[in-house]
Amino acid sequence: MRTLGTLADAAAFRSAAPSPVVLVPTMGALHAGHAALIDAARARAGRNGTVIVSIFVNPTQFGPNEDLAKYPRTLEADLGLCAAHGADALFAPAVSEMYPPGDSTFVEETELSRGLCGAQRPGHFRGVCTVVAKLFNILRPEAAIFGEKDYQQLAIIRRMARDLFFGIEIIGHPTVREPDGLAMSSRNRYLSAEERKRAAVFSAALKQATEEPDPRSIVTRANELIKQGTDSPPQYVALVDAETLEPIAALDRPAVLAAAVKIGETRLIDNVRLAPRHAKV
Ligand code: PAF
Repeated sequence: MRTLGTLADAAAFRSAAPSPVVLVPTMGALHAGHAALIDAARARAGRNGTVIVSIFVNPTQFGPNEDLAKYPRTLEADLGLCAAHGADALFAPAVSEMYPPGDSTFVEETELSRGLCGAQRPGHFRGVCTVVAKLFNILRPEAAIFGEKDYQQLAIIRRMARDLFFGIEIIGHPTVREPDGLAMSSRNRYLSAEERKRAAVFSAALKQATEEPDPRSIVTRANELIKQGTDSPPQYVALVDAETLEPIAALDRPAVLAAAVKIGETRLIDNVRLAPRHAKV
């Protein structure tokens, strides 16, 4: 596996890389969820194609009071995981490569980014879109894979790729969960043992709320269950159209129940997909 640190290294590697090139963008601190993304990238690229993993803790997607400085950085272990899962290259640029002095251009999606995490984290998705657009331009993949845990991020990147004619297939990968249902996340390592138990209740509560027979009760029930089970009021709970991310009250189309909660100092997000329910005749 090659390690690429600069744009020049990446360009040289890309120009000789056999197609299809499949990219797995990450911020590192890799875990089994990322391993599943790399495996899926390998399956999409085939034996002869190229899998590139990028690791970059992107400063522009962190707010002023967020965890940029303490975000886990585990490059040695990440290298081992990428190699073990058959990645062909790891692109791990410095901040000065991705945002050179004088850089003043950002990419902003303006519809899907407004609600859910976008409302809680101003500027977050502008940072995500900007860095992902840069990665797409540097590495020119034919396909890129993102986890469905960050459902809103996935929807926004699909929209950006469509609107800016990137011509890149955006693949969503199902959320990988711990045995007790907690969605895998690099931030789970911040949780104390006691917080870890409450975190599992968050995911279970969200799932349980989707079993409400009346779709209009799902959000209220999820709010109650999360608050009771985690001892923290959720930052948001919303039942949204799976494509437009607009709030909905009826399950007449594919939907997503999405939520965020802060457990101690750690902000967790999760979501459950819901199929349309057809009224009985
Ligand atoms: O999901 C992430 O890890 C990041 O938001 C991404 C897509 C790598 C952009 O920095």
